[in-house]
Amino acid sequence: MPGLLIPKAELHVHIEGTLEPGLVFACAHRNGIELPFADVEDLRRRYVFDDLQSFLDLYYLAMDVLRTPLDFTEMTDEYLAKASTQGVKHAEIFFDPQAHLDRGVPMEVIVEGLTASLRTSSERFGISTRLIACFLRDKGPEAALATWEALQPHLDVIDGVGLDSAEVGYPPAAFAPVFERARAAGLHLVAHAGEEGPPEYVWQALDVLGVERVDHGIRSVEDAELLRRLSRERTPLTVCPFSNVRLRCVPDLEQHPLPALLDAGVVVTINSDDPAYFGGYVGDNYVGIQRALDLDATAVRELAAHSFQASFVTDEERRALL
Ligand code: ADE
Ligand code: ZN
Repeated sequence: MPGLLIPKAELHVHIEGTLEPGLVFACAHRNGIELPFADVEDLRRRYVFDDLQSFLDLYYLAMDVLRTPLDFTEMTDEYLAKASTQGVKHAEIFFDPQAHLDRGVPMEVIVEGLTASLRTSSERFGISTRLIACFLRDKGPEAALATWEALQPHLDVIDGVGLDSAEVGYPPAAFAPVFERARAAGLHLVAHAGEEGPPEYVWQALDVLGVERVDHGIRSVEDAELLRRLSRERTPLTVCPFSNVRLRCVPDLEQHPLPALLDAGVVVTINSDDPAYFGGYVGDNYVGIQRALDLDATAVRELAAHSFQASFVTDEERRALL
C-alpha cells in the first residue's frame, strides 16, 4: 500500500501548526482582527524559513487569531479531516498553552475548543487521539511550572506533556521539576531535542527528564553511543522530514539522516510537525521520503508499524485500530 494511505499513527503534530491560511483569515474576520498580511496568498508567500526561530516568529503571529473555543475546534476539525484522508488512524496532538495564555486566552477556552473536536474524532474521522500539552522552553522553567498549575483542572483530558519552541540555549535539564510533577501525576513524557540542538540535549531529555519518546532527535546521528542507547532501549524518535528541510536542519530529503537512524536500529516514526507551513501532511511526508530515499514497500510498512508501536495506545486499542 502506498505511503500516503497506509494506516499510520501521527505522533508529532502541533495543532497550531495545522492552522491553514484560509482559517487564519476566517478567524481574523470573525474576531475583528486586522492581519499584517494582505490576503491568503501574501501569507503563504512568507512560508520561507531560514531556521527554527524564523518559523516560530510567523507561527506565533498567525495563531493570534485563535480567540474563542470555536476557533480551536475548527482548527482541530480541519486537521482531523485532512489526516483521515492520509491514512491516520491515531493522532497524539501537541498544543502550546503558553502561546495562548500569554495573549490573554484562558486555559478553559483552549481546552474546551480542542476537546469539543477531539471528543468525537473516532466516530467522525475514524481517528483516536491523545492530547499533549507542551511547555515553551524559551519562556523558562518557572513559567512551565505556572502552566502546569493552570493545567490542573484539565488533567482528565491531558495525556502527556512535552517541551518545544526555540531549542538552542534552552537545555532540557532545566525543566526537570515540571517533568517530575507530570510523571508523578501519571502523564506521558516527551520532549523536542536534537532538532537544532546538540546530541547532549537528547541525553538530557532521556537521563534528566526521563522522556518516553524524543521529538525530532535527528542530531543523535552524530553520536554513536547515543544511537546505541536509543536502539537498545527502543526509545522512539518522532522524525519530521519536511520540517527538517524547510527549517534547514538538513539540506534536502535525499540527505536526510533517516537511513542512518534506521540502520542503527532506532525506532523511527514519520510525522508532519506543522503541516500547514511545511508543504504537506503526514502521508505526504511518507511519500516524499519514500521517493527521495528510494524506500521499498517493506521499509514503508516498517515505518508505519513503528508509528503504532511508539504510540501511547494500549495493546487492546492497537488491535482495534488495525
Ligand atoms: N513548535 C512548533 N513547531 C516546532 C518545532 N519544529 N520545533 C520546536 N518547536 C516547535
Ligand atoms: Zn515539533
